[in-house]
Amino acid sequence: MSQQDYTSLTSRFETYLSAHQPYGVPDTLYEPIRYINDLGGKRIRPVLLLMAYNLWHEDVTPALPAALAVEYFHNFSLMHDDIMDEAPLRRGKPTVHIAYGRNSAILSGDALLIRCFDVLLEAGRHRGISADLCSCMCKASLEICEGQQMDMDFEKREAPTESEYLEMIRKKTACLIGVSLQLGAMLAGASQTEVSALYRFGEQLGLGFQIQDDYLDIYGDAARTGKQQGGDILQGKKNFPFVHTYNTISPSDRIQFLNDCVLACHQADIKPVIRWYEQVDMAHYMLDIQSRFLASSMEELDQLSDSDSSRLQDLAIRLMVRDH
Ligand code: IPE
Ligand code: IPE
Ligand code: MG
Ligand code: MG
Ligand code: MG
Repeated sequence: MSQQDYTSLTSRFETYLSAHQPYGVPDTLYEPIRYINDLGGKRIRPVLLLMAYNLWHEDVTPALPAALAVEYFHNFSLMHDDIMDEAPLRRGKPTVHIAYGRNSAILSGDALLIRCFDVLLEAGRHRGISADLCSCMCKASLEICEGQQMDMDFEKREAPTESEYLEMIRKKTACLIGVSLQLGAMLAGASQTEVSALYRFGEQLGLGFQIQDDYLDIYGDAARTGKQQGGDILQGKKNFPFVHTYNTISPSDRIQFLNDCVLACHQADIKPVIRWYEQVDMAHYMLDIQSRFLASSMEELDQLSDSDSSRLQDLAIRLMVRDH
């Protein structure tokens, strides 16, 4: 079967998303939702869901509602994440709480989360699997909350180990990518082995994806990422570069490193922190660990015996080296 590529599936999804923008009374609840949905973004979660479905079915139309649900969840999580991270910019525009106020970002985020589950219920009805889809999504959603809480807890405690950090990003980011592929496979009627393999493919991909997100926080061009450069450093995040640097340098250097991190927050100057990252050859280490996640994600695809997973492989590779 011919596999559709990222570009054609993205444009198919964009059309569906625009046609399903939510309206209601009062409009002040729905406008911030339309705003974030309209801001763009890579749409990788809905596209991965469609690609998973497309492994078994040529026409992806029956999977579009579930694709909408995962993008809704993602956009909801960004609205709340940007409040928690005090982020001013998202996708090159003011974040929802800056544009509409914090209370609106909280409540419109809640409404978007509810719409996500509402849409997902409908998405599974034609196959009689609504409850299964919602149950998988509930499990992932709760893990995402756990991951977000760990991310905030890390800000206030001593440096986590690399494995604690990986568990945090598995929950906050990798879960949603995993469940997107899982839902696509379930809707397609794939076997349990295939559904699980696709979940794990997404999870491994998601770990590498978040490491690239952390990398772009420092080295990305804000004009491409659409986010504030160095936002993690300014917010005192224990992201991957921080964790690796702290756990690599000598105990006596750690005091100076922590001082420089605190100073960076106060003086809004991230350069001294970046010098530490360079001292431990951070960029190479990140590339190395990402290649390992990429390799283990690819191994999962071997379990999809009859399917041509080349489009998923292409996208996975591109996501590791993305610049936005
Ligand atoms: C940002 O996700 C949040 C993370 C989990 C890193 P994306 O990088 O997919 O954001 P958009 O949707 O493309 O803007
Ligand atoms: C976001 O992680 C994860 C979730 C939204 C659940 P980040 O806080 O690193 O994402 P960005 O960098 O703001 O997009
Ligand atoms: Mg954030
Ligand atoms: Mg965050
Ligand atoms: Mg980030």
